[in-house]
Amino acid sequence: MKPFLPGPTMLLFAMLASVVMLRADDRRAARAPATAALDRFDTARIVHVASTPRLLTTPTNGAITPPMATSAWSQADPFAPVYLVSSRETYQGIRGVARNAVARRDSTGQPLVISETRADALAAISHYVHASEGRCGGYFAFPSRVQAEAFVAADRSMQAMKASLLAAYTLDNQATVARWLPQVQEQRLYDTINHLSSYRNRYYASAYGRTSAEWIHAHWQSLAAGRSDVSTELFTACSNCSTQPSVILTITGWDLPHEVVVLGAHLDSINANTRTDPNQIAPGADDDASGIATLTETLRIALSEGWQPRRTVKFMGYAAEEVGLRGSNAIAQSFRTSGVNVVSVLQVDMTNYKAGAVTDMKLISDYSNADLQNFFITLFDAYLAPMGLTRSSVACGYACSDHASWTNAGYPAAMMFEAGSPSGSFPYIHTTSDTLATMGESAQHSVKFAQFALAYLAETAKTAPHKVTGGPAPVSQVR
Ligand code: BES
Ligand code: ZN
Repeated sequence: MKPFLPGPTMLLFAMLASVVMLRADDRRAARAPATAALDRFDTARIVHVASTPRLLTTPTNGAITPPMATSAWSQADPFAPVYLVSSRETYQGIRGVARNAVARRDSTGQPLVISETRADALAAISHYVHASEGRCGGYFAFPSRVQAEAFVAADRSMQAMKASLLAAYTLDNQATVARWLPQVQEQRLYDTINHLSSYRNRYYASAYGRTSAEWIHAHWQSLAAGRSDVSTELFTACSNCSTQPSVILTITGWDLPHEVVVLGAHLDSINANTRTDPNQIAPGADDDASGIATLTETLRIALSEGWQPRRTVKFMGYAAEEVGLRGSNAIAQSFRTSGVNVVSVLQVDMTNYKAGAVTDMKLISDYSNADLQNFFITLFDAYLAPMGLTRSSVACGYACSDHASWTNAGYPAAMMFEAGSPSGSFPYIHTTSDTLATMGESAQHSVKFAQFALAYLAETAKTAPHKVTGGPAPVSQVR
């Protein structure tokens, strides 16, 4: 994948950013003496990782710490050590800021590296790989090496990518899809993106990161008003998500309640140039307010007519994706531990940028389930192609978004991604310019993703038998 061809402006930007970071780092070095001599990038040094006494505060016994055990302070702490699980290629690119690396492989044989860095290097790592190497530089992040090791040892990617689906996927719910698709309103998508991008940031370790998540929770709750079969929660059992909760809305399945269909998007944002600053400006309109807006519009339409699914459906807004897929990984691991039967996961991360002559949607081709990818193609061809929309596919790289958390946990997941432009991907990702203004003050591209998500919802969760013909439903029904 070549989504981030570094233009001259981008390169200048990256160089300036590294100079600013160097200065800030020199100041910090005076306070926290560096003890480790580290490799440097050949061309540019991003940030110097110092060994710090705070290492001692990190849990080392591998136990998953309860949410209260890790304070917001320690997660916002720029000196806090962070353990990364990345691809070998990503590690090669970032080895100037990551140390004590060990080689590992996941269950598919993919070479991985576990390395140690510092919280304030995370944004720069992603930025460096995007800007200088022209690809995503994904990783999973952990508060201890033992947890990173346990994560790799328990990897179930092979099962998730190759295993046939637990539930047979069929196209037989045209009645529901046909009713739903014309109901998508661009204005509603625009309003949600506009609201979410109006927070100063949705950074996982800032007060805005928490209040914006709470707004999503309240908004989804209001869409579910009067429904006894719909519940919402703030998921806080994430030991390294600081004070940012994930948001989960559940519609209990009518006759297959133990088979779970997931639709997810990350709710946090980040500015790659401001490290751990809780006051950073990170509107994240495309990345990923557009994904949350896509889910919100899908949910609004499904609930507005009293629709009831056969399978249980969970809409998820994930915390702390931008710092290593933390919220989604905590949820996927906890579902694995408690044996939740997730039969399908749709990830929508960046849905609203399209410039020039490109296909409308890109299916992400890696780290996802082969059968589910084929089902996404079937869905697209049945419901979106007849409207004149086109598709292509592209690889995203290791751990580029939250579908990877589900893949690691052994669940079938796949992701649909925005069109971008002929020269690559959204140029303003992780900057102060990730706004509706740089996307033409429009949400028209997210409309297509809401339609795709509605088709996915109707055809994976199915419509409860008494609802096949549509029409208003009783809000609560005795089962
Ligand atoms: N939305 C991006 C992922 C993305 C960007 C996918 C461009 C495809 C094209 C996501 O929020 C992100 O920034 N991911 C990071 C990795 C993450 C674990 C820090 C990345 O891709 O570098
Ligand atoms: Zn991002």
